[in-house]
Amino acid sequence: MQQMQANVGRAFEERFGEGAIFFASPGRINLIGEHTDYNGGYVFPGAVDKGVVAAIRPNHTDQIHVVALDLNEEATFGLNETDKPAASWAHYIFGVAREVQKRGHKIDGFDAVFSGNVPLGAGMSSSAALESTFAFALNELFGCGIDRFELARIGQSTEHNYCGVKCGIMDQFASVFGKQGCLMRLDCRSMEFEYYPFDPQGYKLVLLDSRVKHQLTGSPYNDRRLSCERVAKTLGQEFLRGATMEQLEAIRDQISEEDFKRARYIIGEERRVLTVCEALEKGDYETVGKMMYETHWGMSKDYEVSCEELDFLAEVAEAAGVTGSRIMGGGFGGCTINLVKEELYDRFIARAKTEFNARYGHEPMVYEVIISDGSRRM
Ligand code: GLA
Repeated sequence: MQQMQANVGRAFEERFGEGAIFFASPGRINLIGEHTDYNGGYVFPGAVDKGVVAAIRPNHTDQIHVVALDLNEEATFGLNETDKPAASWAHYIFGVAREVQKRGHKIDGFDAVFSGNVPLGAGMSSSAALESTFAFALNELFGCGIDRFELARIGQSTEHNYCGVKCGIMDQFASVFGKQGCLMRLDCRSMEFEYYPFDPQGYKLVLLDSRVKHQLTGSPYNDRRLSCERVAKTLGQEFLRGATMEQLEAIRDQISEEDFKRARYIIGEERRVLTVCEALEKGDYETVGKMMYETHWGMSKDYEVSCEELDFLAEVAEAAGVTGSRIMGGGFGGCTINLVKEELYDRFIARAKTEFNARYGHEPMVYEVIISDGSRRM
C-alpha cells in the first residue's frame, strides 16, 4: 500500500498540485458464509493487505475530477443525479458521492487520483475497496459524521443503485471494519459482529486465482437473490435465515426445483458457519476444512455459481490432502480459498500450478492471505 501511496501522490501533484490527503481501504477474503449476507445470515470475512489508495483534496467547486491511475483515464462529473459519468469505473465514485448526499450531507467537488492492487474479478471485492475508500474519505473531508456501518451501507447502496448488483453487506462491511490479524463474524440480520483473532498454528490460508474473470453485474448474482426471496416469501419469512430443511421440504411442491436447490444451499451454509465458529473455538481446523469443502460443492451443485476451473482447483486441493478448499466470494470465476497445513504448502502450490496449467494452459495466481486493517486515513 505504501508503494501505491507514493504513486498516487506523485500523479496527484503532477495533475492537481499539492495538498492531497491519502485514504485507503482493503479488499477481503471470506472464510465461510457465502451468499448468506442478503439472506440475513452470518458471514466470516477478513480484510486483506491489498486494496485501493486515493489521494484527494476538496476543490471548492461543484465538479469532481478523478484519475484512475491504473487505467490512465480521467473522468469529470457533477454532484447531481443527472451527472452520471460514462466510464463504468467512475460509477462507483459518483454513486458514493450521491449516496452520501442522499443521506442529507453536504459535500463539494474534489480532485482525486486512485490506484488499486486487488485483482479485478477475483472475488476479493475490488469494488468494495473503491467504494469504501471514497465513502471514508468524503466523510472525513466534509465532516459528515457518518458512522462506519453507514459508510458500509453507502458502498452497498452504490452497488444497488449505480452499478446494478443487488449485493449484501459483507464486502463493504469487511473493507470498512477490517482489523489486522482478525476475522469478523457478522450477523447480517442484527448487524452484530465479533472480531475473531485468526492465527491457525501450523496452517496457512492461500488463494488460488483461476483467472476466470467473474462479473457480478448482470443477472446471475441478482437471480440467486431473487430465488432466495421467493422461497422466503413462500415460507412467510422476511429472510431464509432460520429456515429448516423440514420447512423447505414442506413447501417443495410450491416452488421450482431450481429455487429449492438454491434454498437448500443457503440452509446448509447457515449450519456450516455455526459449525465453523464452534470448531474455531476448539482449534479444530479439520472440521473447518471439511465445512469449506461442503460449501464448495453446495455452491457448485445447488447454488450453481462455480465453474469448471474452480471445481478442478477444489479437486486438486482435496487430492493433495489440503484441509479445506472452496470457491470464495460471489462466484462465476475468481479464486478458491485454501486452508493448508504448512508442511504441505509448497507441494500443493506446485501441484496445483502444474495440473491447472496442463489442463487450462495457464497457471493460477497465488495470493497468501495477510489479514489487515480496514478503511483508514494514511
Ligand atoms: C459478493 C457480494 C456479497 C456476497 C458475496 C457472496 O461478493 O458483493 O454481498 O453476497 O458475493 O457471499
